[in-house]
Amino acid sequence: MNPIQTEGPEPVVLLNKVSKHFKEVTAVDCLSFNIRKGMFLALLGPNGAGKTTLVEMIEGLQKPDSGEILLFGRKWQGNEDFLHHQLGISLQETRFIDKLTVKETLRLFASFYGLEKNRVEEVISLTGLEEKHRTFTVNLSGGQRQRLALSIALLNRPSLLLLDEPTTGLDPASRRELWHILLSLKKDFGTTLILTTHYMEEASFLCDEIVIMDHGRILAKGSLEQLLCEHDKGEIMEFSLQERPESIDLSLNGNVRESTWDSESRKGWLLVNDIVANIDGFMNYIARNNYHLTSFECRKMTLEDLFISLTGRKLSDET
Ligand SMILES: Nc1ncnc2c1ncn2[C@@H]1O[C@H](COP(=O)(O)OP(=O)(O)OP(=O)(O)O)[C@@H](O)[C@H]1O
Ligand SMILES: [Mg+2]
Repeated sequence: MNPIQTEGPEPVVLLNKVSKHFKEVTAVDCLSFNIRKGMFLALLGPNGAGKTTLVEMIEGLQKPDSGEILLFGRKWQGNEDFLHHQLGISLQETRFIDKLTVKETLRLFASFYGLEKNRVEEVISLTGLEEKHRTFTVNLSGGQRQRLALSIALLNRPSLLLLDEPTTGLDPASRRELWHILLSLKKDFGTTLILTTHYMEEASFLCDEIVIMDHGRILAKGSLEQLLCEHDKGEIMEFSLQERPESIDLSLNGNVRESTWDSESRKGWLLVNDIVANIDGFMNYIARNNYHLTSFECRKMTLEDLFISLTGRKLSDET
């Protein structure tokens, strides 16, 4: 029997109070959630949040210290063969054999699964690696390596795909191409996906459900709309200054719910209930302190704002 009561069919992935510690670090802290068939789920979190540790436990590469993981209703122990045929995996860093070509690499992996020969060609065409199939893996660009990693993950027609930062370092066009490949898998085969990412746009565009995590815990979970709606308790004022004070008091007489100031980039961020009610106070504060605005913007909350508000930090330096 499932430890968590769920509505509808059995979830593809079920986590029940899963924890993992490395000495004094709690990488994953008592996490529970389910993933339904065909769902695309994004794990968003800053460096060290516990994303890879969580994904690798689901993949059976690491063992939880406590808690239970069921895939397709089964534990890893005793079901390794069955589960290896259901899962497609791409790790955060993939190493290939330098002096094998793209096609030879895929043929090698295909042989592990006893797949028919034309599956390699099918996958090469699916991931757009036709022009590179004779290239040694050592000569592939970063984006092409990511495509090869995805190709390997797709070889055995997995029903559950786990991709750890599949688009990190890709240019925006390649990133979008990869998203469209993933969406076609969902449409054509009902594939279930768990991916980790530092890109808010990726999570918003691709995924039905977003889990924001930090320090091994879930801070928020839901569809983009749910997250923004549930946490939409304010509006954002963003500004930058000519000056670079070490710290500034952005409390505006207690009207600001949250704020951050980064003296390096000279940028500030304020979360308020009502922009109109606070704009005069903000401008007066700037004038009183002889600061000079170089930019000023008011807007509704986005996923990135929500992330900063929940974690107190940006997703990554890149974003
Ligand atoms: N094998 C290990 N030994 C010791 N500590 C580890 C090990 N693996 C992970 N950790 C620690 O566990 C925490 C979570 O790491 P994890 O790799 O899961 O984070 P992440 O969210 O994937 O980060 P990133 O975005 O940088 O990939 C970190 O503090 C990390 O240092
Ligand atoms: Mg990671």
